[in-house]
Amino acid sequence: MSEEKKIGGRAFGGELNVEEFIAQQVALIREQVGDGKVLLALSGGVDSSVVAALLIRAIGEQLVCVHVNHGLLRKGEPEQVIEVFRENLGANLIYVDATDRFLDKLANVSDPETKRKIIGEEFIRVFEEEASKLTDVKFLAQGTIYPDIIESEKGVKAHHNVGGLPEKLGFELVEPVKYLFKDEVRAVGEALGLPHSMVWRQPFPGPGLGVRCTGAITRDRLEAVRESDAILREEFAAAGLEGKIWQYFTVVPDIRTTGVVDGKRTDLWPVIIRAITSVDAMSAAAPRLDWELLERITRRIQSEVKGVSRVLYDMSPKPPATIEWE
Ligand code: XMP
Repeated sequence: MSEEKKIGGRAFGGELNVEEFIAQQVALIREQVGDGKVLLALSGGVDSSVVAALLIRAIGEQLVCVHVNHGLLRKGEPEQVIEVFRENLGANLIYVDATDRFLDKLANVSDPETKRKIIGEEFIRVFEEEASKLTDVKFLAQGTIYPDIIESEKGVKAHHNVGGLPEKLGFELVEPVKYLFKDEVRAVGEALGLPHSMVWRQPFPGPGLGVRCTGAITRDRLEAVRESDAILREEFAAAGLEGKIWQYFTVVPDIRTTGVVDGKRTDLWPVIIRAITSVDAMSAAAPRLDWELLERITRRIQSEVKGVSRVLYDMSPKPPATIEWE
């Protein structure tokens, strides 16, 4: 993005370049919070990461970030959050590995909406527990962006940020990017020095890999989702497709299919590759992927991921198919 790009204008008429926007928000944040402490649920997604970086610039260690690992993150994600925020930016970061808690709650639950509900509620519970251990925190920072506000006003969806954490926590909100669109948030993130892979991260659902491990989640099948997803991402990056394909991931459905291992017939899972091009996620198409790339990914998943026999490429456009499998 060029230096001259103006941001914030599309939403509220303020025409600022990225550096001016950052300086303005740093001043506003300092004015709002004074020497108070601010809490932030840092998922590692673009919006919360950019808000964290802005707040660190403004108030340093007065910001307390809480990164909850619900066990449904992609391979390497919690480590990246810790490295970028704690080690590189010196953030005051609380890391909570709540994997067992979430997976225990999700055991034997196969209905997609119930799974989502459990993940959402448990997230709030873990966050509240962490918040209650801290004293004198008055503010809660959130990565609300302008499309969230438009969508919740139109009633399209419950505002996932504000709706996510209960008002009863009694915090005053700090929402420094709420008048920005996604591309503007990314520009701010880049200017604040966040890594490219974090700023340009593909969309990732709040319930994480939980929606890609269909039916009742088991640890072994979840591991197959995580490992196959990591191979797919690695191969797409090596093929120069990162940033060119809207979203790509793998799904491991709760079905068994025959395979042959050491001469014996065995029941194993299929891995489904989902890759889509899109402009707004409302409609999507499967790109024509290079055949050799698909063969390489297939061979790697078959040999490196435990419990898998075959690999499929989902070519279904949306609609009628959705992007996720749930
Ligand atoms: P579907 O499957 O409905 O997905 O075609 C559309 C887009 O939304 C993403 N998605 C989510 N994003 N929180 C999010 O922030 C969620 O809970 C969620 N669920 C789905 C999905 O990955 C796709 O990009």
